[in-house]
Amino acid sequence: MVKVNLDGVVREAQTDELLIDLINRAGASVPHVCYHPQLGPVQTCDTCMVEENGRLIRACATKAADGMTIYTKSAKASAAQVEAFDRILSNHLLYCTVCDNNNGNCTVHNTTKLLAIEHQRIPFRSKPYEVDNTNPFYRYDPDQCILCGRCVEACQNVEVNETLSINWEDPNPRVLWDGGSTIGESSCVSCGHCVTVCPCNALMEKSMLGHAGFLTSLKKSALSGMIEVVKGVEPETGYGSILQVSEAEEAMREHRIRKTKTVCTYCGVGCSFDVWTKDRHILKIAPEHGPANGISTCVKGKFGWGHINSQDRLTTPLIREGDKFRQASWEEAIGLVARRLSEIKNKDGADSLAFISSSKCTNEESYLMQKLARAVIGTNNVDNCSRYCQAPATVGLFRTVGYGGDSGSISDMEKADLVIIIGSNTAESHPVIATRVKSSHKLDGQKLIVSDLRENEMARRADLFLHPKPGTDLVWLSAISRYLLDNGLAHTKFLDQWVNGLEQYRKSLEPFTLEAAERLTGLSERTIRTVAHMIAEAKATCILWAMGVTQQSQGSDTSTAISNLLLITGNYMRPGTGAYPLRGHNNVQGASDHGSMPNMLTGYQSVDDPEVRQRFETKWKVILPSTTGLDNHQMVEAIHAGKLKAMYVIGEEMSIVDSNANYVEAAFEKLDFFVVQDIFFSHTCRYADVVLPGAPSLEKEGTFTSTERRIQRLYEVLEPLDGCRPDWKIVQDVANQMGAGWRYQHPSEIMDEIAALTPMFAGVNYERLAGYKSLQWPVAADGTDQPLHYTKRFAFPDGKARLFPVSWIGPTDQPNAEFDLHLNNGRLLEHFHEGNLTYRTEGIREKTPDVFVEVSPELAEERGIQSGTWVQLISRYGKVRVRALVTDRVHGKELYMPMNSVESPVNRLTSSHTDHVTDTPAYKEASVHMKVLAEVGDSPLPRINPRFGHPTPQGGVEVERKWKRADYAPPGNGNGNGLVQLQTKK
Ligand code: SF4
Ligand code: SF4
Ligand code: SF4
Ligand code: FES
Repeated sequence: MVKVNLDGVVREAQTDELLIDLINRAGASVPHVCYHPQLGPVQTCDTCMVEENGRLIRACATKAADGMTIYTKSAKASAAQVEAFDRILSNHLLYCTVCDNNNGNCTVHNTTKLLAIEHQRIPFRSKPYEVDNTNPFYRYDPDQCILCGRCVEACQNVEVNETLSINWEDPNPRVLWDGGSTIGESSCVSCGHCVTVCPCNALMEKSMLGHAGFLTSLKKSALSGMIEVVKGVEPETGYGSILQVSEAEEAMREHRIRKTKTVCTYCGVGCSFDVWTKDRHILKIAPEHGPANGISTCVKGKFGWGHINSQDRLTTPLIREGDKFRQASWEEAIGLVARRLSEIKNKDGADSLAFISSSKCTNEESYLMQKLARAVIGTNNVDNCSRYCQAPATVGLFRTVGYGGDSGSISDMEKADLVIIIGSNTAESHPVIATRVKSSHKLDGQKLIVSDLRENEMARRADLFLHPKPGTDLVWLSAISRYLLDNGLAHTKFLDQWVNGLEQYRKSLEPFTLEAAERLTGLSERTIRTVAHMIAEAKATCILWAMGVTQQSQGSDTSTAISNLLLITGNYMRPGTGAYPLRGHNNVQGASDHGSMPNMLTGYQSVDDPEVRQRFETKWKVILPSTTGLDNHQMVEAIHAGKLKAMYVIGEEMSIVDSNANYVEAAFEKLDFFVVQDIFFSHTCRYADVVLPGAPSLEKEGTFTSTERRIQRLYEVLEPLDGCRPDWKIVQDVANQMGAGWRYQHPSEIMDEIAALTPMFAGVNYERLAGYKSLQWPVAADGTDQPLHYTKRFAFPDGKARLFPVSWIGPTDQPNAEFDLHLNNGRLLEHFHEGNLTYRTEGIREKTPDVFVEVSPELAEERGIQSGTWVQLISRYGKVRVRALVTDRVHGKELYMPMNSVESPVNRLTSSHTDHVTDTPAYKEASVHMKVLAEVGDSPLPRINPRFGHPTPQGGVEVERKWKRADYAPPGNGNGNGLVQLQTKK
């Protein structure tokens, strides 16, 4: 701590604390237009000038030092602040009353008021550029742009998409996209960082324009007229009176604009933000306080909410009649569901029914779904879609360290010296996590190794890109472990103190010589050695992995090999280290955590443990089944075998997201009774007997658990659409119709019950999760959580981790002469999975309208293919027709097909092979024959897709270039020796 005299009061500050933070903490009012705590000093606006030792310094760029004496309101400081702000106003028209940004949080408006500006000395000067409306989600108005550069800093160094810059050397500087493209044709990925941090109305969400204000929906000509009126009266009245009018209008807005916190409904990063709404219109998404994301979002979280008010929403239950569905009342539909489930249970037994919960639903809803299966029906046949993706990673961690979750937090990934990403297209599948790694790599010297088949964005940024043969990650990981142990590079002290099973593990590594690894993986011995040394030399290493690892027939073993490698290098138990399986859906972690698994009750308590069962039986007042139920892969097999007669699926597009889709659909056709609960009539609904309209995340309360085990509350942003019900209420209705007698009035009561039954969640309650508060499990009864796992012990009885030997078997469904191409698949940034939600956002559809198959330039040349050529992909299991996209992201005979299609889903091509431990489908092991069709269409990705843009990486806003301009002088030092001519009320 240091002591700083601030305006005559001695205050304590951290040694590296910026003066502006100290000033703000002390409640002093110093303007700071370009400073944003999550961006750090940008230093473009000069409004934060304070006086220290007779000289002016920028408070945002100066660290507190012992003995400093700072004056924030001396004549010199005040004059400089006003002068700087006057320059800003010359770039901005103050027409707040008719501005959609007049919502109490406009920095330019608030600073005008703070400095009591009455008149501008430097008149407003229009810039010679048009407004750019070419992005579907936001627009840029150069005339309103104050050139603060916050947007540039956010794009360059937080999002690290590196699209934005400012042409400081130009006579009329402005913000540029890709150095001068339109926004629409630039590399902008519409993540919204820039719009979120813009301190005025220069960058604005289009959903705000004409909607936020009372007068802003007027025609442009009328608005221009009003702006002229404001300008006309300003010389006489001054800004003070004008601001009073606009503040009266702003106060009126407060009554009709609601700001409600929610958690993103898409991926597992767990971004949280306020949703601004006016009636059912979503004005904007405002990220700021989220513990996982701060100001960050990706296009889906920021703009992908078209599904909420979509005309296609289901608003009434449907009951099948022959080949058609008819509308039904809730009473009739619930009555039918309860009656048929009871009949089938009575006739064929409880285990002839199965339940699938949704990882889009809340923790409380997942809990109720498994309670319905276990306590009301009497079966453990309950699962969730982590079976399709994450179960192998969970097993790998359970085997080695004891908990099946990320071992630390996103902040640990930021802190690591070395990040290794394996089989994860992080920049597209977990975009906000990718921003943290990209930023640490760009700014803090973090090293990055990426192993993938595809040269995705992270691969292109990596210090080392590994492209092993498909399905061979286990081999090179194990070879590195062996090399490190053989060469005395393992962390012996850590192993001695914290790890069991070294000798057996060392023996299991015998086959993994460097020679064998080179032969099997195609990576050179030298490359493997390089990776080994990079890990050995790094002080802290994190490994991130996803479906490229888990969706293989040895997904569990490869996940285990990753954790083994981290253990022998001592990369657990410290900040910046650990294992990070990146969870796919927003609540896929929570769905498993809360018991929607055939072998586990909540908190991974085994169904075959009598003590555990007894605790639940006492609370639920039932006798529970004790044998493991069917997982969702086994459910499909059981239907085909005639053993499973009825299913109840919530929110899962199972008919096309399970692998070997044709086989799954054939199973659904055989069911005696099938209930699907969803917000749209999904492809899976086609096979249903009853369809129940649930509610999307914005229309309910509850909690989600993100990839970093972070439990967060979501609040009801909008009431459920007429006719829809929150899923927890529907499940309760079904249970009660079957005589359960549940009486939950609010999801908080469900969470209280979960906490009472689950040691891992003992201290979780809604009070501790209020607003933006969150908890990372395990949570002790006193509310203590664990952002970083294993700081004192591993989660085994003796506190030690376990090295778990694995061997290599090799992938299934390999290419041969007939099926000669390897087919990989995964997500796209813009769409979530098959796109049931994201296609309902027009701007996303415009930018990314269709699915495609990526073909390497060399294969394209060999087969006479160009972007837009229609091809038929034929596998051993099915076929799809799709357009080709020629790109060097894929190499040789490896294809890549994203999942964003209901009409041509990649899973018509995938097999029924699974990971041998978890039954997770081996989606990534597929071989196809490609038939080139005569037809050539347009490129499946339009020119306005950001992948065609040309980013302009630079260090940030590069304010030094501004300072070199001939017309720049720091305020207080130029323009008449620091004499400021502004008239103020002060
Ligand atoms: S990528 Fe686009 S939306 Fe995101 S910060 Fe950059 S310019 Fe803004
Ligand atoms: S567009 Fe960028 S430079 Fe212009 S005011 Fe907004 S954040 Fe500042
Ligand atoms: S999709 Fe994921 S990264 Fe994007 S805003 Fe939502 S939680 Fe964040
Ligand atoms: S806030 Fe310090 S220069 Fe802008």
